[in-house]
Amino acid sequence: MKNRIGVIVIFVALALGAFYMAFGIPFTGDGRVRFEPDNPTIVSSGAVIYADACASCHGDDLEGQADWQVRKADGKLPAPPHDDAGHTWHHQEQQLFDITKLGVQHFAGADYATDMPAFGDEYSDEDILAVLSYIKSTWPPEIRERHDLMSKQNGD
Ligand code: HEC
Repeated sequence: MKNRIGVIVIFVALALGAFYMAFGIPFTGDGRVRFEPDNPTIVSSGAVIYADACASCHGDDLEGQADWQVRKADGKLPAPPHDDAGHTWHHQEQQLFDITKLGVQHFAGADYATDMPAFGDEYSDEDILAVLSYIKSTWPPEIRERHDLMSKQNGD
């Protein structure tokens, strides 16, 4: 049984890998996006980037915009919180990286109207990992553990 699960996990990982290569979604380093919420140097550089590039919409304390679940008059969603009250932690690490680097449209389609910018031109992969590591470092331990597990299960 254990072996079968192993085979399925490997199969899913390979399938995802092929998908990402075919569609050009980038991997970093050894091919796996990995946040570093326990690395103080990375987290503090991420906090600076957060204050510069994200806080204007996602809030100084990661609290998001008011009524973030309700679409605005222009049909767009407000910026969600990145603290544990939001749903950021429901997305595994690779997805958060891709959303930040490539933009929400990369997943939702080119026609999707959103205020969330794509940061790939402005910030390096390391910067994006740093800011997301900072965000993850603010979550309580049990949420971080669940997120680690989720990120692994998804072949990340
Ligand atoms: C101009 C406003 C704005 C800025 C600046 C901004 N965001 Fe966003 N962000 C949004 C909005 C609005 C959404 C909701 C996306 C949608 O329309 O579905 C969002 C969604 C996200 C999501 C998906 C989260 C989820 O819970 O589904 C991530 C991850 C994210 N932003 C990361 C960042 C990071 C990291 C930065 C800084 C580097 C940043 N954003 C800067 C407006 C912004």
